[in-house]
Order: sequence, then C-alpha cells, then structure tokens
Amino acid sequence: MEVHTPEPNAGIVHADILREEDNRDLMLRPQYLSEFVGQAGMKENLNVFIQAAKARREALDHLFLIGPPGLGKTTLAQVVAHELGADFKVTSAPALEKAKDLAGILTTVAENTVFFIDEIHRLKPVIEEMLYIAMEDYELDWIIGQGPSARTIRIPIPPFTLVGATTKAGNVSSPLIGRFGITCRFSFYEQSDMEAILRRSAGILGVTIDEDAAELLASSARGTPRVANRLLRRMRDFAQYRGYGDSPRITRQAVTEGLARLEIDHLGLEKHDREILRIIIERYNGGPVGAETLAISVGEAVDTLEDYYEPYLIQIGLLQRTPRGRSVTDFAYKHLGLDNAAGRLPL
Ligand SMILES: Nc1ncnc2c1ncn2[C@@H]1O[C@H](COP(=O)(O)OP(=O)(O)O)[C@@H](O)[C@H]1O
Ligand SMILES: [Mg+2]
Repeated sequence: MEVHTPEPNAGIVHADILREEDNRDLMLRPQYLSEFVGQAGMKENLNVFIQAAKARREALDHLFLIGPPGLGKTTLAQVVAHELGADFKVTSAPALEKAKDLAGILTTVAENTVFFIDEIHRLKPVIEEMLYIAMEDYELDWIIGQGPSARTIRIPIPPFTLVGATTKAGNVSSPLIGRFGITCRFSFYEQSDMEAILRRSAGILGVTIDEDAAELLASSARGTPRVANRLLRRMRDFAQYRGYGDSPRITRQAVTEGLARLEIDHLGLEKHDREILRIIIERYNGGPVGAETLAISVGEAVDTLEDYYEPYLIQIGLLQRTPRGRSVTDFAYKHLGLDNAAGRLPL
C-alpha cells in the first residue's frame, strides 16, 4: 500500500518533546523501582535509603534529581512515593508564586509525603528561603500582623520528603543544594536499557515489535525514554496505516521507513539537530558561538537549546561547550557530509 508522506517531523515538534505526550503517557510510566529500567547504580542506592527510611518510619531524606528532559525525573519521584507507601504531591517552581502557596501545601500534607517540585531552579527567593527552614526543621516561618506589631512565628509541619528536579543544576543556589541529602544524576540510557523500555512499552500498548526493530528504534531515540515511547507510538501509527490492523507488528523495515519519514537519522538526530549544527558551521565557521546568539539563529529558546538539544549533541560528540561558546567537532562535519577543510587548515 502506498503511504502518504506525513508532515516533516510529524509528532516530533521541537519544544513539544519537553512536555508529556498526554495522559496516555501515564500508562507507560513505571510505578515501582523494579519496573524502572536502567540507571542501575542510582537505583540500588536509592532502594537502600528507601528501605532504611521505611524501617525507621521516617521521611526519606530530601532528594535532588538532575538531568535532561525525558530521562525519568518525574517518574522516579513518583516511584519513590510508591515504594515508601507515601502520598505524592506535585508542583513546579513557577506555580509557587507566594509564600502562602507553599505554606498551603506543606501545612496540609500527610506525614512522610513525597513533595515534588519540578524546575526547582526557578524558585522565587521568598519561597526558597521558606523552603530552607521547612526542609531542615519541618517548620515554617510565618509573619503575622502588620507594621510595627508584625512578628514571625514558627509553625510546625509534618515531616516530608522534598524531591526537587532540574535540568539546570548550575542554576540552583548552593544553600538549596546543601539541604538535599541525596542527589541523583541521570545519564542518557544505554542501548540495552532503551530496548528494554521499548519492549515494556510495546507490551503495555499491545503492539508487537520485532527484536531487530526494537534494536534500531532504541538506537535512534537519543538515549531518552520519553523519545523512545513517542517514536514507538509513531511507528505503531505507520504499521497500522500499512494495514496490519488492530494488532500491528512493527518490523525493522517499518522502523527504517518510519524514521526516514520523520527525518531522524541513524544517530537519532532530528532535522532540527542537524540544522543547529549546520548553522554553527555555515554562519559561525564551526564556532565558538555563544548560546544566546545561537538560540536566536536557530529560532529556539535558550532553555530549549541548552536543556534538550545540546546535552545529546554533546553526549554523542558532535558539539562542544567551551567557555567561549559552542563549537562543532570534526565528527559533526563528517556526519553532515561536509568538508571541514575550509577555514580549518592553517593558511
Ligand atoms: N527508567 C525508566 N524506565 C521506563 N520508562 C521510563 C523510565 N524513565 C522514564 N520513562 C518513561 O519516559 C517518560 C518520561 O519520563 P519523565 O519522568 O516524565 O521524564 P522527566 O521528568 O525527566 O522529564 C515517562 O512517562 C515514562 O513512561
Ligand atoms: Mg518531568
């Protein structure tokens, strides 16, 4: 059957990748550590700390999660709550506008609740200061009255575990970092982990994926579970469209064709990744170029560029981050099939 060519990058809209697909994503989200694939060292330690806190019937120490989008920070926070048998409360730093927003949550949580604050590098100073005391003493500083009669009282709150997640650890203040007892740094997932995630998700979605198809898809999903799940859905769409009906089977051939349609190459780069590299090469002679300038040139928010695109390009050795800016590597020229002799050879 003939397949129409979909929109370029269909379903892989740039900044969209930073967000959840929607509720369907929840189905695929691991609930317990045993389902949480990869990140082995981090997982083992965490399991020890969780079991110990449980045995003592205490709140787990505050947990700091660092890593690029889509690697499982929100998932892990929820897994921790499940493992502890504790309540789970979610917010994000930009949503906490006033001291009373935070106080409203912390004064009403059940004991040992896991309280997740996403994008914790974006906390307002007033909230952050309130959080210091809450994390350290399980108390809130609260100002009552006004003018000269105003005074501060301390309100006790239930013991809780703060889980703070960020893509930008460099933007978190050291007093805040110092108050987290446990730090987990996420790395991009290895090939075998990516395959395991795809097999698990395929099982949940009720699609069959051939071994060699999973292998190819896994290597094209930039070491990121969210991307893997998204690509799996797109491949399922293509397979269904090709007439496999309600129980589509994803073959290697289907994945090869599907990736070509989505303009994803064998390194897992999307069209926009290649554009970024090309712009650095063509407009900035390979770099270095500052992040702000580059972001404007590629029509992307600096945050998106730094959080989503760059970490993977750096990880696979196509881009370098130096104090003077971003530069592409020789490997980038090679990958794009460009000659890097111009301007690089000594005159
Ligand atoms: N270790 C993992 N094992 C299996 N699936 C995972 C894992 N980490 C993440 N996922 C999947 O990837 C999706 C994105 O993870 P998420 O926790 O939202 O990432 P982050 O919060 O770091 O942006 C989740 O919905 C989940 O289905
Ligand atoms: Mg998240």
